Amino acid sequence: MSESFLNWVGGRWVPARSGKTFPNLNPATGEVLGEFPASGPADVADAVAAAREAQRSWRLVPAPKRAEIVFRAGEIIRDRKEEIARAMTREMGKILIETRGDVQEGIDMAYLAAGEGRRMYGVTTPSEMPNKWAMSVRAPIGVVGVITPWNFPFAIPSWKLMPALVAGNAAVFKPAGDTPESAWRFARVFEEAGLPPGVLNLVFGSGSQVGQPLVEHPQVQALSFTGSTEVGLGINAVAGRLGKRVTLEMGGKNAIIVMDDADLDLATDAIVWSAFGTTGQRCTACSRVLVQVRVHDELSRRVAERAGRLRLGDGLDPGTEVGPLINAGQVATVEKYVAIGRGEGTLAAGGKRPGAGPLTRGHFYEPTVFTGVSPGARIAVEEIFGPVLAMVKVASLEEAVEVNNASSYGLSSSIFTADVNRAFRAMRDLDTGIVYVNHGTTGAETHLPFGGTRGTGNGHREAGHTMLDPFTEWKSIYVDFSGRLQRAQIDNAGALPGAGTPR
Ligand code: UN1
Repeated sequence: MSESFLNWVGGRWVPARSGKTFPNLNPATGEVLGEFPASGPADVADAVAAAREAQRSWRLVPAPKRAEIVFRAGEIIRDRKEEIARAMTREMGKILIETRGDVQEGIDMAYLAAGEGRRMYGVTTPSEMPNKWAMSVRAPIGVVGVITPWNFPFAIPSWKLMPALVAGNAAVFKPAGDTPESAWRFARVFEEAGLPPGVLNLVFGSGSQVGQPLVEHPQVQALSFTGSTEVGLGINAVAGRLGKRVTLEMGGKNAIIVMDDADLDLATDAIVWSAFGTTGQRCTACSRVLVQVRVHDELSRRVAERAGRLRLGDGLDPGTEVGPLINAGQVATVEKYVAIGRGEGTLAAGGKRPGAGPLTRGHFYEPTVFTGVSPGARIAVEEIFGPVLAMVKVASLEEAVEVNNASSYGLSSSIFTADVNRAFRAMRDLDTGIVYVNHGTTGAETHLPFGGTRGTGNGHREAGHTMLDPFTEWKSIYVDFSGRLQRAQIDNAGALPGAGTPR
């Protein structure tokens, strides 16, 4: 019998009202790791009611004190880093050094968000009237709904939930169905850190049974989502109809540009890490290389050679360099695109699932490289979210920028060059939320804003100094201490020197 896990609602661990469960599977072995509640709209309603009730007093807890709980959560995560990372590798496949990095991102975010509790700066400004005070402060929104993906099961909930809680909101958290145990561990940390009951609620289940009712619930005022473009746009449509604030972080088709003056050893290392780390399943992953014609063949040879040598395996095995894909659906998507790619470029590495041995039990796929792909080819344009890389020839920096910016996505981009003028032009002209110089497309740090342009998002940024924006309302406050009626914009003469002495 595998272990049974429960929802966290109003500070209590409870099953789904229906009593139904779903299994959590190890993508490397197919083994069942646990049973989780297959919740429904009634469970969401319970969680929202609990959050609403808890938020009434949580918003009155001084922000520095709310933040101390988040800081304590960071310390608990730090103490459990290895245990959490191992459980995460078991349930979603990426290799241990990467799951440790994911957990570290949660620790970093906890410390950063906790600091916000003692800042949360507003603005004071002079009033146009005498003896009147004007300021703007951040206020919590109320109950926020947080829907997260399986590829960063600790980092992404941290970017969303930690600032939301510091700001004085209560939350209902619906994690991806493929990584429920990491979410359960996340919630346990907050329980242990002393978060009052109901401030954070965790409801497991599917998008249609939990996500949708959460998005539609009239008492959930703001939503934060990271995941596929298809689901994100669906949430946006509903939120738009209901007039809700929604923060979206969706697809990517991130390019690394390699100029002919670049250090090719460094570029090769960065491309291999950015394209095949997390088995290509990062929204920041590099899935196309825009390489200047003169170095295309040499760079392609080096990248394909390295990709072909990467060791596939269970992420818990220290010798493994690339773990499995998350599930059979992702493997099918990769297979579909590799079939398309065969007609669009030259297959230089990978292109199939391992044919024999223990790897056939898991969702493994060989790191795959196509060379000589044209900029408009489907594998160079559409998000695959797997270990598939397209090498695309460009004539110049100008063409590379144009190809990069023609994408319907705009999360991350990168340029390798030794020429400072080219680097600065790229920094200015690449239309993505994140730009790297002489570094791959992955590895954003928590204290800088995270998010993308165009189809990647809807104008918001997470973490960084922008972390509170998705989870706060601005409130403008005026205090008139003149003791008489002062009409702004009308009693202009009252603003003259000598007028308006308080009574
Ligand atoms: C994601 O893939 O959704 O920048 C997040 C990075 C990580 C976060 C990735 N820090 O690659």
